[in-house]
Amino acid sequence: MEFKFDMEKNKEKLEEFKRFIRENEDKQGALMPVLQNGQELFGYLPVEVLEMISKGLSIPLSEIYGVVTFYSQFSLIPKGEFKIGVCLGTACYVKGSQDLLNKVVEELGIESGKTTPDMKFSLTATRCIGACGLAPVLSVNDDVYGRLKPEDVKGILDKYR
Ligand code: FES
Repeated sequence: MEFKFDMEKNKEKLEEFKRFIRENEDKQGALMPVLQNGQELFGYLPVEVLEMISKGLSIPLSEIYGVVTFYSQFSLIPKGEFKIGVCLGTACYVKGSQDLLNKVVEELGIESGKTTPDMKFSLTATRCIGACGLAPVLSVNDDVYGRLKPEDVKGILDKYR
């Protein structure tokens, strides 16, 4: 589904962002800090913001898209209130985390990398999050759940619904 970026609601942030672009436009390597600032301000990088960057820094939009899609710290869609991560690192994978991921996909009705239409949940398949002793793990924002079976998934999600 398409998420509509509300220019009116984000007016002040857009002004602040424009200032940041202007302050950085002559600096070498300005694109990364400008993208990071945009991601932080808006929570994601809508096309309207990418167009502003393209104009402000005189960088083609296609080049900016290339950078944004390369780095996982940037997102082209808004994140949900609860960010679900299912670890597909080796230790978790051998203990069945793919089945956990499939179960979350089934429960939420969204694929990895997407956000539910009500903006409540977003789902990401992650690399190792450093909790291998608890494999397979699933995280919800800062909460980490370990040694899970697919049948545990619904109960965990229900806590946040
Ligand atoms: S592989 Fe999943 S936490 Fe390390």
